[in-house]
Amino acid sequence: MAEALWLSQDNVQSLGITMGEVMAGVEEGWRLKGEGLVELPAKPGVHPRRDCYIHAMPCWIGGDIDAAGLKWVAGYPDNPAQRGLPYNTGLFILNDCETGLVKAVMDANWITTWRTGAASAIGARYLASPEASVLALIGLGTQGRINLRALVEALPNLKEVRLYDLFPAQVGSFLAEMEPLFPALAYRTCSSVEEVCAEADVVITCTPILAEPKRIVRSSWLKEDVLCIAVDYDSAFDADVMTGGEIFVCDDRNQYLWTQDHGVYFQAGYPREKEIYADMGEIVAGRKAPVRRGRRAALFMGIASHDVMTARTIYARARQAGVGTVVPL
Ligand SMILES: NC(=O)c1ccc[n+]([C@@H]2O[C@H](COP(=O)([O-])OP(=O)(O)OC[C@H]3O[C@@H](n4cnc5c(N)ncnc54)[C@H](O)[C@@H]3O)[C@@H](O)[C@H]2O)c1
Repeated sequence: MAEALWLSQDNVQSLGITMGEVMAGVEEGWRLKGEGLVELPAKPGVHPRRDCYIHAMPCWIGGDIDAAGLKWVAGYPDNPAQRGLPYNTGLFILNDCETGLVKAVMDANWITTWRTGAASAIGARYLASPEASVLALIGLGTQGRINLRALVEALPNLKEVRLYDLFPAQVGSFLAEMEPLFPALAYRTCSSVEEVCAEADVVITCTPILAEPKRIVRSSWLKEDVLCIAVDYDSAFDADVMTGGEIFVCDDRNQYLWTQDHGVYFQAGYPREKEIYADMGEIVAGRKAPVRRGRRAALFMGIASHDVMTARTIYARARQAGVGTVVPL
């Protein structure tokens, strides 16, 4: 009888996979995508409640990797404050490419969190100035924290982290968690979006995705040379930040444009097809040059190749370590 490996969130966490390993997988997935070796349909979603989504994210990565799977991921912005639950939850299914059978089913919370931070860091590796020393984080929940853990790997000269959250209590819990991990960094708590953006070489926004985006970051508050990374779709950056700079980059052209065409996000002034300089696949594969000066805007919706690459690493490590529960199908 066919069997699959079940991996709980604790199982996945216990494997001790490092940010460096996740970043390597994310980068490799982007490279293969840029070389045309990845099948990555745009993610469809359902929206059972206002400001909430549940997305299906299938992907096959060809080349030497040959791995396929699907993530079913929910985003519920009120979960952390009202229910003590994460914003993002879900499951990942890993398939055997030869037979199509399910090899593993695993919790996707850790995957989503870590690969998203890793994607920002790979973006910074190709688009940040080599001297970048000041990072601004807007939205200090799960993504704000993992983005710092990732960005320290990508910005060798990082010295200062500027922090802004709508809810000041979030700053305290962010500092309690992150300062011990990175005691050499200087932390500056800011009381406005304008203040957090000042002097920043890299600005990353990790606020809730809303049906009616607030777009709180104005281009006039940013340095001339700055890398802006949106983790939160079109919620935080003014359209002018995304269109009026040196370049606009997304994680996958097809998914970005499909989502725009289907009328849910990236309307009202956000870049259209002709304004996309490149997607990260093209840059990592060497088809488009990295750009490190001027205002560079990057919008990373999250792509399924990141999930498959990360799940593949988790599966291999779990098998090696004998972690998880084998269940009959
Ligand atoms: N692009 C991707 O691949 C990807 C993957 C995972 C999550 N996300 C998105 O990242 C965002 C953050 O997710 P999370 O898990 O960190 O959520 P979270 O709830 O843990 O954190 C969100 C933080 O934003 C703060 N916030 C709310 N409104 C704000 C405002 N107007 N200004 C500043 N701060 C504000 C909240 O207080 C909270 O600290 C969500 O939009 C989520 O959908 C994107």
